[in-house]
Amino acid sequence: MRYGQGLLEEILQRTDLVQLVSRRVKLVRKGRVMWGCCPFHAEKSPSFKVDNERRSYKCFGCGAGGDAFRWLMESEGLSFPEAVSRLAETAGIELPKWSGEDEAREEKKKSLYDVVEAAASYFEHALTTPQGSVARAYLAQRGVDKATAGRFRLGYSPQSRTGLIAHLRGLGIPLDDLVAAGLARPAEADRPARDFFFHRLMFPITDGRGRVIGFGARALDPATKPKYLNTGDTVLFSKGQHLYNLAAARPAALKAGTIILAEGYMDVIALERAGFAHAVAPLGTALTEDQLALIWRLAAEPVLAFDGDEAGRRAASRAAHLALPHLKPGMSLRFAFLPAGEDPDSLIATSGPSAMRQRLEQAAPLIEVLWRELTEDKDFTTPERRAGLEKALMDLVARMGDRSIADHYRRAFRQKLAETFSPAPARRVPVPGAGRPAWRGAPLPAYKRDTLSAAVKNSAMARAGAARLVKETEVMALLAEAPSLVLAHAELVATLPLSEAQLDRLRHELLNLAASGIRLENPGLQHHLERSGLAELVQRLAARRAKAAGAAEQVPDGVSARQGGTADVVEIETRWLAAVAQLRLLADLGAERAKALDRFNREPSEENWRDLQRLVQAAQRQDP
Ligand code: UTP
Ligand code: MN
Repeated sequence: MRYGQGLLEEILQRTDLVQLVSRRVKLVRKGRVMWGCCPFHAEKSPSFKVDNERRSYKCFGCGAGGDAFRWLMESEGLSFPEAVSRLAETAGIELPKWSGEDEAREEKKKSLYDVVEAAASYFEHALTTPQGSVARAYLAQRGVDKATAGRFRLGYSPQSRTGLIAHLRGLGIPLDDLVAAGLARPAEADRPARDFFFHRLMFPITDGRGRVIGFGARALDPATKPKYLNTGDTVLFSKGQHLYNLAAARPAALKAGTIILAEGYMDVIALERAGFAHAVAPLGTALTEDQLALIWRLAAEPVLAFDGDEAGRRAASRAAHLALPHLKPGMSLRFAFLPAGEDPDSLIATSGPSAMRQRLEQAAPLIEVLWRELTEDKDFTTPERRAGLEKALMDLVARMGDRSIADHYRRAFRQKLAETFSPAPARRVPVPGAGRPAWRGAPLPAYKRDTLSAAVKNSAMARAGAARLVKETEVMALLAEAPSLVLAHAELVATLPLSEAQLDRLRHELLNLAASGIRLENPGLQHHLERSGLAELVQRLAARRAKAAGAAEQVPDGVSARQGGTADVVEIETRWLAAVAQLRLLADLGAERAKALDRFNREPSEENWRDLQRLVQAAQRQDP
């Protein structure tokens, strides 16, 4: 083969097969796939299927079928290299230049597959001989029966440090090839060439086509380090680009509609035995982007199974971050967390497949893992920390490569912020005499003017208060623009920290209307509000909005300039949630400021003065 498998797969990945085939065949969508009349034999009713997801076409009438390369070869009579270069060009992929050296390397590669395959057979056989008894006993102890060992082609590398070399050389394979395949260490000045693996349980690792390309090897003696030794990178094998059990897991994954990524080889084997044949694992390193791409080709939402402990959580976070730039509509990750200290292998052994199934079913979506990572065991009692959280969340959004994904995450994070920092319902009813909770943003208490330093009564303080009022007005203006938000977010609306009495009345009116089932579409609403004496306020809000929209439209190419004048509810909702979060921040700042002012009044120290200044400035920064 002239081109690497990875390159060919990338070309196929970037080729829109449906579009390609449509140039010759009229296709009609039925569910997930497209159908048409087969171009390779005469037919009147369509039995020719094109599946963009699986990147293949097939005719159930005449049996023609294959990938995009085959399509061009069969429908246009191109040779394979011609088909490759045609599609590579369309996909914008540059093909490597081929030299005689490259050809030689490809030839070499071809022969190395045979070498590694011969080694796999040798290890497999050694497991059945008397010297393999330790390994057999070990497998039995770990609950791996003979049939399972056979399916995974498990093997044993004997104690002798030259057994494999002797065997393969007996088959006419030169030592250089063994070294190149990562099976032997070359001779050094004072010692002869020796086997790379010895006295280990051998796990053959295959490529996507099921050809053995390397090995993972577990020590049988607990004192041996490292516990797992893997083939180093060779022409065939690169630990970041393959996955354990991928070829065998593929059909199962397509059938199950999902794929499980575990951490270890033994986990994959235990999962398969327990009925989860769609399991793979990385090869001794943290998950790579290439590996992520491999599992995404088989399932839209692979499930990553991690330990419930700290290390597992770190691995989950790492994978989550790795995924961000590559998220696509409908394509994400889910995370199954196991009890602390358990891996799939041990969980299945102690609690059975149903416990594993339950964990898989309860797998958390990516957004939960991202949110948890930033919030778990953290304290957000100060507005600065909440602002820090908001920034960290928006930094994650900024790393998302897909625009629509980023939009949806931004909305979801804002909603989570608003929900999380809205008070628990029990705290919403102010207990007389108990003082209003800080989040209500109680009106500033009467300043003790006599002790208040003149410097504090500066305009900065007033501006900070004004910022909040502006934000309150914006929040209510958006609600009046899209009253359907009142029902969708009743809880949030009910707990808005509104300090302005008229806005507060409008809020109650809207909630009452929503609760009584009155349609909140604008004209009717206007009528009701008029009767409640709030019409003027609503008109004022509308005028303010019109002004804001006018200003936005004057910005050339401004993102906020909207076509058509009316924003859809989704867009208003996004802006509304953002405004609510900012308002809460401002209200909290207001309450803190009041407290700081109180402290300063009681004790006009340098420190208390600085605290107060800091809060005033923080409020100004929130001012849009
Ligand atoms: P674990 O130590 O979690 O392995 O490493 P495990 O599968 O639970 O091992 P058992 O159950 O004791 O047999 C998970 C994976 O990390 C890689 C291997 O791929 C292993 O399957 N690993 C681990 C190494 O490459 N080297 C090591 O020394 C340890
Ligand atoms: Mn384990």
